[in-house]
Order: sequence, then C-alpha cells, then structure tokens
Amino acid sequence: MALLKRKKSKTDISELNIPKHIGIIMDGNGRWAKKRHMPRSAGHNQGGKVFRKIARYCSDIGVKYLTVYAFSTENWKRPQEEIDALMKLFKEYLDEALRDFKDDSIVVRFIGDKSPFDKELQELMIENEEGSKDRDGMVLNIAMNYGSRDEIVRAVKGISENVKNGIIDIDSIDETMVSEYLYTANQPDPDLIIRPSGEYRISNFLLWQCAYSEFVIMNTLWPDFSTDDLDEAIRIFNNRNRRFGGV
Ligand code: FPP
Repeated sequence: MALLKRKKSKTDISELNIPKHIGIIMDGNGRWAKKRHMPRSAGHNQGGKVFRKIARYCSDIGVKYLTVYAFSTENWKRPQEEIDALMKLFKEYLDEALRDFKDDSIVVRFIGDKSPFDKELQELMIENEEGSKDRDGMVLNIAMNYGSRDEIVRAVKGISENVKNGIIDIDSIDETMVSEYLYTANQPDPDLIIRPSGEYRISNFLLWQCAYSEFVIMNTLWPDFSTDDLDEAIRIFNNRNRRFGGV
C-alpha cells in the first residue's frame, strides 16, 4: 500500500511569538475596486470591513498595540470625490466603533493632526478616544492625517519650545526624549510592519519608530486581506533573526 504523504501543517498561531506592536499600511483598495470595474470608494468600503475584522483578530490573539495607516498627510491630493467618500466612511465607522470595539476592551487612539477634519469628524475622534481610554485591552492607533515627517517636525518644535522656556536642558535631549514627543509616546516601537498589495515603500509611516521593525510585504490587496494572511505575516516574523544591530 502506498504511503500516504502527510501534508505539512502550518504552525499554529498559538505556538508563535506574537508581536507586541504591529503596524499595517492598508494599501490596495483602489486596485481592488478597479479590478472589479467599481469606483475606488467601493475598495475603501471593503477595506473598512477588513480593518474591523483584523483589529478584533489582533486583539484576540494578544497583540498589545496595532497601528493602522488610514489617511496620510499626502492623501489630501486625491480627487475631492474620493476624499469625500473616505470622510463619509470614517464617520460611519467611528460612529459604530465605540460600540463595536467595546466587547474587546480596545482602546482607540488617533495619531496625526485632527485639525483639518470637519467638526463632526473631529468630535467623533475625540469621543472615541475619551470613551475608550479607561479600557484595558489592545491599543488601536488609527493614523489619520498622519505623516511621520510632520510628526518629527512637531516633536522638534515641542522640544525647542521647552528648551527656550528653560523647561529642558539641551544636554538632556536623547532618543528617549524624542520618542516621548511623538504621537506614539509611551508605546513600544512596532515589531512588525505589514504592507499588503506588494509595494516596497514605507510611505511616511512611523519613520522614527520603525528603526528595528521587521517588514513583511504581501501581495494580497487590503480588501482581500484575511486572518490567514495575518497569521502568515506572523509566521514570517517568527522566522526572522532580530539582532537590533548586535550579532
Ligand atoms: C490606500 O489604498 C488606502 C487608503 C488611503 C484608505 C484606507 C482606509 C480604509 C481601509 C478605511 C478604514 C477605516 C477606518 C475608520 C480606519 P489606495 O487607495 O492607495 O489603493 P491603491 O494603491 O490600490 O490605489
């Protein structure tokens, strides 16, 4: 009798080292829609659903911090119609997010400059932050009107202001202090950054914080991204040898 070839099973996620902080560049919504002859907004809608599913899954498997790139400081260059559709989508999601993430005790935070958003959206962002700040679960950073260069410029200005006012001594400026002036103050740097849709770019995302992050580029477009894809990224991460500049 022929020996049955046993299919090599993938390592169970529960046996793996779960990254404490994962960053995701949610990319590929437009291409997903184009492939289906649909408007780009349809890709963002589907991307929004995937965002909710993946956020809850990360919380379930024990990720402590998840940072997702939802809207960059450069995304304002897009056609007004697409920006309007995205703002509508953000409002719909943020309206439901507080209830939705409550069962998982997820703490919702926004990183980026809120001021260019309209009043209704700004209020929803603040309501989400205030309403979730006492929870004890995963911290979900949603990067909106976020750009890492802008974040670093703000940190430099904040430190300079405090040097000018005599609050801090110039010699006490070090890497830890710079980190404390970023939107991600008091959070660990990302261990793993995932970019779906096959692009090999960082696109102004967490430039300071990603100094020693492991990058995993996947071909799946974000609206098709599944929990299996996330498991696969974590498996790849587990096979990396992180040396942090040592040997
Ligand atoms: C990049 O894909 C995606 C965006 C600019 C928007 C991401 C937003 C969501 C997934 C909705 C999430 C909702 C909340 C509340 C966080 P792209 O449009 O650049 O795709 P392309 O490269 O294929 O054109």
